Amino acid sequence: METTKHSIPIAKPFLAKEEFQLVQTALESGWISQGPLVAQFEEDICRFTEAKYGIATTSCTTALHLAMLIHDIGAGDDVICPSFSFIATANGIAHAGASPQFCDIDPETLNISPDECRNIIEGNYDSNLKNKKTGNKLKAILIVHQIGIPADIDAFNQIGKEFGITILEDSACSIGSAYKGKPVGASGNTSAWSFHPRKVITTGEGGMITLNDKDKAERARRLRAHGASISAHLRHQSASTMYEEYDEIAYNYRMTDMQAAIGIKQLERLGWIVSRRNEIASHYNSVFDKSNGIKRITCKDYVTTWNYQSYPIMLEATRDERDEVISKLDKAGITTRRGIPPIHKEGAYNQTSGKGLVLPYTERLSETVVFLPIFPSMTEEEVAYVASEVKAVIS
Ligand SMILES: Cc1ncc(COP(=O)(O)O)c(C=O)c1O
Repeated sequence: METTKHSIPIAKPFLAKEEFQLVQTALESGWISQGPLVAQFEEDICRFTEAKYGIATTSCTTALHLAMLIHDIGAGDDVICPSFSFIATANGIAHAGASPQFCDIDPETLNISPDECRNIIEGNYDSNLKNKKTGNKLKAILIVHQIGIPADIDAFNQIGKEFGITILEDSACSIGSAYKGKPVGASGNTSAWSFHPRKVITTGEGGMITLNDKDKAERARRLRAHGASISAHLRHQSASTMYEEYDEIAYNYRMTDMQAAIGIKQLERLGWIVSRRNEIASHYNSVFDKSNGIKRITCKDYVTTWNYQSYPIMLEATRDERDEVISKLDKAGITTRRGIPPIHKEGAYNQTSGKGLVLPYTERLSETVVFLPIFPSMTEEEVAYVASEVKAVIS
C-alpha cells in the first residue's frame, strides 16, 4: 500500500467550532490575559475531578513547581518520583531546589512501584527521614499516572500516612481516567495537570493544580501571579478601589483567557474523546492479542477508566530491534514514539541523584516500549492500517 510520509501522526488534538467561537468571545471581551474564563475553567475542572480548588497555570511543569512550594518543599529536601516519566516530573521538583530520588516502576502497570518506594524509604532514610548519604529530608512522593493509567493511589496514601510524608500526583496525562470509581484528582492530594496538545484535552500550553487544602490553594493562587494578595480579576470586579500587597517573591505562571476558552470547550467533549480513544484501543487490543512478540498493558482492577492518553506496546526485542520497528513503521507512513527515556540517565541528573543508579524495569521498558498513533479523529481505516502494519512488521 502506498502512503505519504507521516500520513498518520502520533497525536492530533480535536478542536471544533465551539473552541474557535469561545476564543473569539474572549478576544472580543478584552480579557486577553487572565480573567473570567480562567476562573470558569478552574471551576469546571474542579467539578469534573471532584477537587475543591483549582489554580490554572502556564503548564504542568509550573504547576508542579507551585505544588512543591505550597508544600514547603525546597533546598535540602528529597522527593521520590519515577524515572520512567517525562523529564518535567523531576524538573518540577528541582525547580523548587529539592532533589528527585528516582524509583523503579512495576513493569505490569508502567507506574511507580509502591513496594520499591517502600524499599527506598526503609533502605535509604533513617527514622527521622534523613537521607543516610546526603542528610536531606524526605518530604514527599510524587506519583505519576503515566500515560493516563492511574497509579495505585491508596497504596501510596498508606505509605504517606505510615511515614508521615506527603503524596503528590503528577496527573499531566490523566484527565478523564478514574481510580476505584472516582476521577483521578478526587483523592484530595495536590495534583498537577497538563493541557499540552499531546494530552487528552488541550489549551495549547497550559496546566493546573487541584487540591483540597484552602490555605495552600490561596498560596498557589498568589505564587502564580507575582505574589499579589488580590488578583487582577477581583480588583476589576470590585466597586471600591483595592490595593494589592506582595509578601513573597513569586512568579508569573498565569494561564490566559484565550487558553481557558479552548479548555472549557475541550472539557465539554472529554467524555466523547475518552470513549473514542477506548474504541481505538479495543481495536488494537483485539489484533495484538493474536500477535506474537507484542505485549500490551492489562489494567489492574483498581483502574476504572484509562483515558488512553497514549497506546503503548511492549516488544520482545532489543533496543536496536525496537528502533528498526520504529523505522519500518515510519517508512509505512506511521509515526510512533520510543518508550520513555529514563530521567536518571539524562545529563541533567546523571551526575547528581541519578549517578550510578540502576533501575532495571525502567531501563528495560524504555528500550522496548513503542507508542502507536491514537487520537479521536483517527478513521477506522487508519486504525486498521496501523494495527495490520504493526503486526506485519513485528510478527
Ligand atoms: C508525566 C508528565 N509530567 C509533566 C509533563 C509536563 O507537562 P507540560 O508540558 O504541561 O509542562 C508531562 C508532559 O509531557 C508529562 O508527561
